[in-house]
This record gives sequence, structure tokens and C-alpha cells, in this order.
Amino acid sequence: MLFGPPGAGKGTQAQLLVDRYDLAHVSSGDIFRHNLRQGTPLGLRAKEYMDRGELVPDDVVIDIMLDKIMSIHSDEGFILDGFPRSTRQAEELESALTARARNVDRVLHIDVPEDELVRRLGGRYVCRECQAPYTIANSATIPACDRCGGELYQRDDDRPEAVQKRIDVYREETMPLLNHYRQKGLLSDIPGQDTVDGVFQSIVGAL
Ligand code: AP5
Repeated sequence: MLFGPPGAGKGTQAQLLVDRYDLAHVSSGDIFRHNLRQGTPLGLRAKEYMDRGELVPDDVVIDIMLDKIMSIHSDEGFILDGFPRSTRQAEELESALTARARNVDRVLHIDVPEDELVRRLGGRYVCRECQAPYTIANSATIPACDRCGGELYQRDDDRPEAVQKRIDVYREETMPLLNHYRQKGLLSDIPGQDTVDGVFQSIVGAL
């Protein structure tokens, strides 16, 4: 499970982990954005909350995420990115995994100071096709995605007001889960201010 504030590098590290370990990547944010692009009721409902930087209600998130996670074959490993984010989500995940005799092996907490999060999200562009994130200092020339050639765009929730709200919501509603995983002996703290490769090496070491 990849855990950390908005902009900590969860999506970036998830892609490296997928490439290295051949795992399924289950990202709640990507699922909502995919639904929004398709214009589904789920996507439109989620957008109201995402644009304000608030959490999408548990009743909407839990069913869709558990369906997705439970559809992964029991031989296949997976990375959770952005889920769970509330105590209720964590409880429902644990009972669903226990019922399938599966469990979470490790919770990787990537920590980055707030000023760096704000800086990163202000310059972030994301591929519309494969969701790969990029930092682009000069917005006059936006390249295509290195991985798939898709168009890069700025997320609506990367506006400064929404970023600040997302950070506040993370601290209030999601951070309390860290203690839960620490007490279970599952948590590894990963310093997130290193280079992308440096963070990846810390994660591989923790795993
Ligand atoms: P979600 O899409 O999950 O966003 P998030 O958690 O806010 O995280 P981000 O995607 O913004 O950042 P990241 O940590 O993946 O960083 P990244 O790798 O892109 O959720 C969006 C919204 O959906 C939520 O606000 C909520 O409304 C809703 N939602 C989602 N899940 C939910 C749930 N479970 N319950 C309820 N609501 C939910 O990196 C950021 C930037 O930094 C990039 O530009 C990258 O290139 C750069 N970067 C990465 N690593 C480094 C490094 N080491 N050094 C320098 N730059 C770096």
C-alpha cells in the first residue's frame, strides 16, 4: 500500500514498482478520473468532491475499490495507491481481504514537507491516456507522454486552493490511519524528498 500526502510521489513510485515486480496498480484517483472521462455517473459524482479537494464519500469509494481489488486473481500481487483514506475504508478493506485469505504485506509511507508538495503539484502535468505524472517547469512547451505518446494536461484539483484543501484533508482524515498500520508492524517510513530513483531504492529496501 502506498500512503502519503498529495504530491508525495505515490503514482510515480507505483509505476516503477509495477515495472519491477509486475504488480497490478489500483489507484482510486485514476479510477475516478477514468470514469469522469467516460462521463459515467460515478465520475460525475466524484468530480464534485475532487474539484473541491475533499474526499469522495465512503459509500461511493468502498464498493468500487473493493470490487476492483477482489477481481485481482489470488496469484497476482497488487499495489494500492490512494486507498484506504479513512478509518472506515481501512476496516472494510481488512475484512474483505481476510475473507479472501489475503492481506497487506507492507504500507509504504512516503513523507514530503508541505512546501515541496505545493511546488510539485503546481508544476505537475499528467498523461490523459496512461496517467503518468511529469513535472514541467516551462509550460510554454508541453511535450507528449514519454511512455505512450498521450497528451499531457494539468488536473483541475492541482489549483492552489484545491491543493491546500487536499493537504488539510490528508492531515485530518487520512493521517490517523498511519498509527493503525504502525501498531500492526506494517508501516515503513520512506523519506520522499530524495530523487525519484533514491525514493525507489528506499522502497525496494523496505520491501
Ligand atoms: P489521487 O489521485 O489519489 O491524488 P492524491 O493522493 O492527492 O495524490 P496525487 O496523485 O496528487 O500525488 P502522488 O502522491 O501520486 O504524486 P505524483 O507521483 O503524481 O486523489 C485525487 C482525489 O480523488 C482526492 O483528492 C479525492 O477527492 C479523491 N479520492 C481518491 N481516492 C480516494 C479515497 N480513497 N477516498 C475518498 N476520495 C478519494 O507526483 C507529484 C509530482 O511530483 C509529479 O509532477 C512528479 O513528477 C513529481 N515527483 C514525484 N516524485 C518526485 C521526487 N522524488 N522528486 C521530485 N519530484 C517528484
